[in-house]
Amino acid sequence: MAYRILLPLLGILAALAWGATWFVNGTTRSWFERDVQLRTRLVAAGAREALATYFRAGDRQKLAAVLDEIARDDRIMAAALCTPSMKPLARTSALPSRYACDALAKRGVVDAPKAGLDLFEEPDGGLVHAAVVPILDDDRIVAQLVVVHDLSFVARREAAMRRFTVGAFAVVALLASIATLLVRRFTWHRWTEEILRVLTLGRGVVWGPRTRQEKRFGPLLSDLRAMMTELASDQGVSAGGKWTPERLHGVLTDSLDGDRVVILANREPYVHDRGPDGAVHVQHPASGLVTALEPVMRACSGVWVAHGSGSADREVVDRRDRVLVPPGEESYAIRRVWLSESEERGYYYGFSNEGLWPLCHLVYTRPVFRVEDWRQYQSVNRRFADAVCEEVEGPDPVVLVQDYHFALAPRMIRERLPRATIISFWHIPWPNAERFGVCPWHREVLDGMLGSSILGFHTQQHCNNFLEAVDRFLEARIDRERNAVVLGGRESLVRPYPISIEWPDRRAATAPPVPRCRREVFAELGLGPDALLGVGVDRLDYTKGIEDRLLAVERLLERFPRFRGRFTFAQLAAPSRTLIPEYRALSERVDALASRINGRFAEGAWKPVVVLRAHHEPPAVFRYLRAADLCYVSSLHDGMNLVAKEFLAARDDERGVLVLSRFTGASRELTEALLVNPYDLEEASAALATALAMPPAEQAERMRAMRAHVGEFNVYRWAGRMLADAARLRKRDRLTNRLSIAGASEDDEALPRAGSPSPCARR
Ligand code: F6P
Repeated sequence: MAYRILLPLLGILAALAWGATWFVNGTTRSWFERDVQLRTRLVAAGAREALATYFRAGDRQKLAAVLDEIARDDRIMAAALCTPSMKPLARTSALPSRYACDALAKRGVVDAPKAGLDLFEEPDGGLVHAAVVPILDDDRIVAQLVVVHDLSFVARREAAMRRFTVGAFAVVALLASIATLLVRRFTWHRWTEEILRVLTLGRGVVWGPRTRQEKRFGPLLSDLRAMMTELASDQGVSAGGKWTPERLHGVLTDSLDGDRVVILANREPYVHDRGPDGAVHVQHPASGLVTALEPVMRACSGVWVAHGSGSADREVVDRRDRVLVPPGEESYAIRRVWLSESEERGYYYGFSNEGLWPLCHLVYTRPVFRVEDWRQYQSVNRRFADAVCEEVEGPDPVVLVQDYHFALAPRMIRERLPRATIISFWHIPWPNAERFGVCPWHREVLDGMLGSSILGFHTQQHCNNFLEAVDRFLEARIDRERNAVVLGGRESLVRPYPISIEWPDRRAATAPPVPRCRREVFAELGLGPDALLGVGVDRLDYTKGIEDRLLAVERLLERFPRFRGRFTFAQLAAPSRTLIPEYRALSERVDALASRINGRFAEGAWKPVVVLRAHHEPPAVFRYLRAADLCYVSSLHDGMNLVAKEFLAARDDERGVLVLSRFTGASRELTEALLVNPYDLEEASAALATALAMPPAEQAERMRAMRAHVGEFNVYRWAGRMLADAARLRKRDRLTNRLSIAGASEDDEALPRAGSPSPCARR
C-alpha cells in the first residue's frame, strides 16, 4: 500500500531537487557576478587618486607599482592601465595577452574612449571576469583601468552547493518516507493510543512492563533517535560512508578554500637524535597526540610547529628552522622552535606537567603552581604564537592548536590574525569548575582558550565542565542551545570530538603475520609455546595506573593458581618527563612492585611480570600487540587512550581481548571490551581471568564489533568534523564581514577586509 504513496512522492521530490539545484546555481552565479562587479568598482575607486596623480606626473614606474598593489588581492589575477584609446601604459606581469589594452581594442569589446566593460568569459575552461573602468581626472577620462578577476572558485562553490542541495532533498525524501510509513502504521494500530505510547517512550519514561506494541515500536524509535542524533551532531558531514585522507583533504580545499593547515603542538612527530654510533636517527615519540595527528597532517599537508627537542634537531633544519617530513615522503614541514633550559623547565615540566596535568586528571596527585613557571608558560606561548603567525599564508588561515601546553596561544594568535579559523583541541580531561579554580591563573587560561573559533574536547562531560568554569569565572555569555561562549563579541563553539587513529593503520599492511609476531615476541620473552601473554603499552605516567595493573596481575595469580607458570604480563614502559620527581618516584615504585610479584610467584625460567623500560618504535609496539592474548589499559583517568584503539587495529586476525578502564574516554565507545574499575582489584583480576579463558568465537565477535566502530570513527572523521564545523563558521563570518563592508562608513576603512594581507603573514 505504502509504495503507492511513496513512489509519486519520491518522484516529486527528485523533480524538486533538480529544479532547486538549477535555481540555486542560477541565483548564486548572479550573486557572484554582482559581487565581482562591485569589487571591481571599489578597487578602481580606491586606486583612482593615485593613478591620476602618477598619470599627471608621467611616472610609469609608480603606475606599475599601483597595479601590482591591486593584483595582490587573492582573487585579482592581473591589472593593466591603458590610454583612453586603449594604447598600453602599464601592466602586471601575469596579464593574459587577450586582456592587454590593444587586444581588447582589437576584439572590439571596448567602446573607447567612452569605455566601460563587464566581460565574463571562460577562455581555458576557468571563469574569468575582465572589466575596463575609466579613470577620471577633473571629469575627463585620462586612462582606462583593466582589472581581471580569477573566478575559478565559483565553479567549486557551485559544485558544493549542488551536493548540498541534493543531500538536503535526500534527507527530506527519507524523512517523508518514514513519516508515510509511520502514518500508515499508526492508522492501522488504533493511532491515538499509539501516539500516546510513543510519546511516553520518546521521553524515555516507561511505566511498568512494556506492552507488545511498545516492543514493536521500540526498534523503530531507537533507529529514529539514533538517526536524529547523528544528523544533529554531524549535520550531514558523516553522510556518504567512510572517511579517508582524500575525503579529509576535500573538506579542506572545497569547504575551507585552503590547501594546508598549520598545527601547533608541543611534541614534534619526528625527533632527530644523534645515537651512540654517531649517526642521526629519526625517532617517533610515544604520544597519543602524535599517533592521531600525524596521519591528518599527511592528508592535509602544511606546517607542524613544535618544540625542537631532539639532540640532532638543529642539524637537519633549513635556515628557517624547517625540515620536510615524513623522511622519504616529505609531504609536510615541521617548523621547530628552540627552547632554553629554563623555558623548558618552566613551561613544559613546570606549568604544563606539574600544574595543568595533575589538575586535569583525577588521580590524587597534587598540582604545583609556581609564578615563575607561569611566566615562562606565558612567554613560551607567545613565542609559539609568533612562529605560527610566521608560517601562515594569508589573513584567514586554518590553525589547529593542540593540548594543554598552549592554552594561551589561541588568544595571542587571534590578536595578530583576527580572521583566522582557530580550532583548539584539549587532549586531556577537563575537570569540574571547583577543581579548575585551584589554578591561580584560571581566568587567564580560560580567556586564552576563548581566542579559538572552536574548542574541542573528547567528551560532552568535558565540554560541560569547561562551560561551567566559564560561567563561574568569566563575564561571558553562554549559549547553552548552541554550546557556545560569546566573549568580547566573538563566539567560540564548544564541542565533543572523540579522537581516534588512522584506519586502516599503515602498519597493519606491512606487519608480519600474527603467528610470526607471536613466535618472535615469545622467543624474546623466553616463553614456551603454550604460554599466555598480556601486554600493556604506556608512557611511565602515574595517570596510566601501571601499579594497579601489576597489582591486578598479582591478584589474578593469587585467586586463580591455574595461571601460575603460564601467564606473563609484559609492560612496555616508555620513560617520560623524567625531570619531574613524581615520575622518577613512580618508575622506582613500578620496579619494586614487579620485583616483589616476581619474587612471590616466579618458578624456574618463568616470571609473571616483565617491565621493558625503553622507548619502543611503532613497529615493535605493533608486534607486541599482535602477539598478545590480552591487552590491559588501566588508566586511572584518561581523555581518550589510543593504545586501546591501536590494539584493535593490530588484530586483523580478530583474536585477543581488550580489558579497559572505565575511566578512559575510549570506554564510552568500546563497549565490547571488558570494562573494569582499575582501583577494584577483585573486578580487574576477574576480568583478566575471563579474558584468558574467552573462547575464540567470542573474542572474534567482540573484536569485529570494535574494529568496525574504530574503522568508521577514525581520525579522518575526527578532523573532518572539526574542519566542517569550522567551514560553516567561516562561511557565516564571511557573510557578516561582507554585510559589514557593504554598510561600512568611511571611518571603518581601518577594519581588516577580505583579501587584505595579514599583519604577520610572510610575503
Ligand atoms: O594526552 C596528553 C599528551 O600530550 C598526549 O597527547 C601525549 O600522548 C602525551 O601527553 C605525551 O606527553 P609528552 O609530550 O609530555 O611526552
